[in-house]
Amino acid sequence: MYLDKIEEKMLDGEFGEAVSLAMRTVVKMGEVFSAERLVKIKHAHVSGISYENIGDEGLSFLEEIASLGGRFSVPTTVNPGAMDTEKWREMGITPEVFEKQGRILRAFMKMGAKITLTCTPYLYEQIGFGDHLAWSESNAVLYANSIIGARTNRDGGPLALMEAIVGRAPLSGLHLDENRRPTLTIDFSISEQFIFDNYLFSVAGLIAGRIAGNRVPYVIGLSRLKGDVENLKLFLAAVGASGGTGLVLIEGVSPEKVDDIPSERVEVDAGMLKEEMEKFNEDGEGIIVLGCPHLGLDEVQEIVEWIGKRGRAKRKIYLYTSRDVARMYEDERKKLEELNIYMFADTCMVVSNLSAYGSRSVITDSGKAAFYLSSKGYNVSLVPRKIILERVAVSD
Ligand code: F3S
Repeated sequence: MYLDKIEEKMLDGEFGEAVSLAMRTVVKMGEVFSAERLVKIKHAHVSGISYENIGDEGLSFLEEIASLGGRFSVPTTVNPGAMDTEKWREMGITPEVFEKQGRILRAFMKMGAKITLTCTPYLYEQIGFGDHLAWSESNAVLYANSIIGARTNRDGGPLALMEAIVGRAPLSGLHLDENRRPTLTIDFSISEQFIFDNYLFSVAGLIAGRIAGNRVPYVIGLSRLKGDVENLKLFLAAVGASGGTGLVLIEGVSPEKVDDIPSERVEVDAGMLKEEMEKFNEDGEGIIVLGCPHLGLDEVQEIVEWIGKRGRAKRKIYLYTSRDVARMYEDERKKLEELNIYMFADTCMVVSNLSAYGSRSVITDSGKAAFYLSSKGYNVSLVPRKIILERVAVSD
């Protein structure tokens, strides 16, 4: 693989041991992906930072990189961790986990990360069309590629970290034009009305992800989602849960031009959507968990106002959002609790230990949360948010 002079110096250790280690990793991965060279990245986002997931081994690795002098050379943000860093006691987090998650965050701070702890960097960071990124959270990768037209592979957390240190990624996969062309069409035209009438964007996403696998699909029939950030987030997060693709080109929504519509076509009808819904149709009992991906400010406002107008929710509602949004509600904590709403930042229902503070039975609007929580043994009911708010949260 071609390396320029600076990159060679990085590899040879002229910029220190951590940079050399990072460059060796990035080059090795580049060779695996048959990249001809590296590409400079504008931003990195690192996932897999929860102590619950990476344990002592991951913690030691991060502290070692930081102590070797590893520093991020591009703006770098981080995904949610194991707990709300302020309300951790309410989450049943032990002092030991708190301390270790804190050490993980301090290692990231030492390396220069912005401690955002949200999986929606696309709502906050300055990312534009054509920007090369190193992101490692699937919903964020899918949003950046599919809606913004930025370019990132679905990197693993450790690779994104190394790419953040050297400021470069292998020029391969979705960084290249030729790999961004769709190779199959997923057609929702015949079920479009059913999807929009019943808000089945998460369900459609789970099906689309499974059909696409690792291929780039061209999606027809969902163009009415243009500008609908809330439902695009749900759709793409679900695609990322059931499939391995990092890009979905949605007709009328994605900014990239599609010249050749793939002739291989899969039609999704209402029956397929109903069948998918039945997989997550538990008893409809349990607590309500919303915010996978993390809720934006307007979404939180809408939910709080909706419940506020109707009185106390009959079930506990947990909302997961970024710390920026949660801070705006800091003074309203008591009022929210009176409504039976509990807000957490820095974490989510999947990467925290939900059974320690919530329940093993949940109702969610997120296909991604439904997918992962049910694989962890939770009883999950997947219900559109509008229906949760209208029928489940406030009345029987
Ligand atoms: Fe985000 Fe957690 Fe879902 S990290 S996308 S809220 S699983």
